[in-house]
Amino acid sequence: MAVRPSHPGAEQFLPDTRSLDALRSAAARCRGCDLYENAAQTVFGRGPGEARLMLVGEQPGDVEDTEGKAFVGPAGRLLDRAVGDAGLRETATYVTNAVKHFRWKGARGGKRRIHEKPSAGQSAACRPWLAAELAAVRPTVLVALGATAAGSLFGPAFRVTQQRGTMLPWPPEKGDFAGDPTPIQAALATVHPSAVLRARDEDRAEAYDGLVRDLRAAAEGLR
Ligand code: URA
Ligand code: SF4
Repeated sequence: MAVRPSHPGAEQFLPDTRSLDALRSAAARCRGCDLYENAAQTVFGRGPGEARLMLVGEQPGDVEDTEGKAFVGPAGRLLDRAVGDAGLRETATYVTNAVKHFRWKGARGGKRRIHEKPSAGQSAACRPWLAAELAAVRPTVLVALGATAAGSLFGPAFRVTQQRGTMLPWPPEKGDFAGDPTPIQAALATVHPSAVLRARDEDRAEAYDGLVRDLRAAAEGLR
């Protein structure tokens, strides 16, 4: 079943010039879906334009929303460590998210903002930014972190639990990126670093090792 376009989408906010700088400034004004209303700012991707590795997360978290930078909170710190342990510390890397605004709900009576997964419609609305980043950076290897990113990149039928760590052809056969012309050598999906943080104490080391293993498999695509 097709996802009903419940949002206008980001397409009309894309600039004529598609450099990362131009995209970042234009994205700051995006109103392609309702998520801009309750978030502090657009959190665009970060990293060098000539990055060979692109990591795609779900959406900015609380810290990212406040600071305006992708993956600078607890999940970002864990991801940094995993990237290092996978031998990718020296690899020029671009990090971004499938959705550029923080979706959250308030705890009853409290001040804490609780993360809420973006909907398929919001993910679809934001996809033009991700597609434009992919076209501007043209990475050699592309990694989806978690189900939201994997769904946006490889189509809604993709299952991270079953297909994680497996090198995938690019473009994918299904989804909105089918036929995408970016010459990517290897694409792969793995778990989200937040899932490692959320794992039970006794499962966390194994979850972390799994993330590192998958990132190491992605590194093979850089050779
Ligand atoms: N989780 C994400 O998916 N992205 C971020 O930038 C931070 C946390
Ligand atoms: Fe635009 Fe994406 Fe933010 Fe929605 S989440 S307003 S599509 S940048």
